Amino acid sequence: MKKNILKGGTAVLGLALALTACGAPAKSADAKLSTIKDGVLSVGLSPDFPPMEYLDESSNQLVGVDVDIVTEIGKRTGLKVEYTQQKFDQLINSVRTDRVDIVFSGMSDTVERQKTVDFIDYFKSVGRFYVLGANKAKYTQDTDICGQSVAVSSKTDYYPALQRFSKDKCEGAGKPAVNIVPTDSGAAARLQLDQGRAQAAIQGAENLVYFEKKNPGKYAMVLGNVTELPFGAATKKGNTALQDKVVKAFQDMKADGTLKKILDSHNVGYGLTDPVLNGVK
Ligand code: ARG
Repeated sequence: MKKNILKGGTAVLGLALALTACGAPAKSADAKLSTIKDGVLSVGLSPDFPPMEYLDESSNQLVGVDVDIVTEIGKRTGLKVEYTQQKFDQLINSVRTDRVDIVFSGMSDTVERQKTVDFIDYFKSVGRFYVLGANKAKYTQDTDICGQSVAVSSKTDYYPALQRFSKDKCEGAGKPAVNIVPTDSGAAARLQLDQGRAQAAIQGAENLVYFEKKNPGKYAMVLGNVTELPFGAATKKGNTALQDKVVKAFQDMKADGTLKKILDSHNVGYGLTDPVLNGVK
């Protein structure tokens, strides 16, 4: 398994901010951070999910909403940031086993995942069906998806959501089931659509906002929301010392407008929300 560490953030403002931000001596606060070693916040992500995290095409740098947020959290907590890039489906295990302290990877908070990690919800996301722009008029009601091939990453919460959709909206209405085409990633699902092997795919709306900007009209979102789950930063269960720091940083970033600015710079200002621990019930 390849571990790419990119250094980011800065510890320059560290001590002063840690003291003022927490209102407690830095030493005792940090002693509770079982997983944070030497003032380093180790962040896991899978950078194949624009605009949340991706590698910039020209510079190959790690960029995106989550990266900007993490940089800001690093500044505000005085922790130095180190990234570990992994496959999306390995991230939860990584945080459980202390390989990383926290996951910022456009990860949906779900009740299922809460069994093994805690989430600090920080962004309102929805999952949407999308099709090639030229075909969008064909999809006006839910049942128009029934019997169609729909590509979806099997590692994401969009997959069980599509299974439920097929059962409820298609089979439940006496229509043919959706032909679910499972893929390894959202990008692979998009390729199925591009190559005509699937008529539709599912992705977070923010991803489609990104592609609309990059390639106007190529794709179109159709029908209603398939999922309505916030993205959360995942920590080990019960790591309250870290959670408190991150929640505080989010609250401050929200209050002073930094969070909105970051989201707007990626055209996803609609996702602004207050940080909540395990908000999905
Ligand atoms: N929101 C979806 C989920 O949590 C997909 C996230 C994929 N993220 C990524 N960085 N590849 O299941």
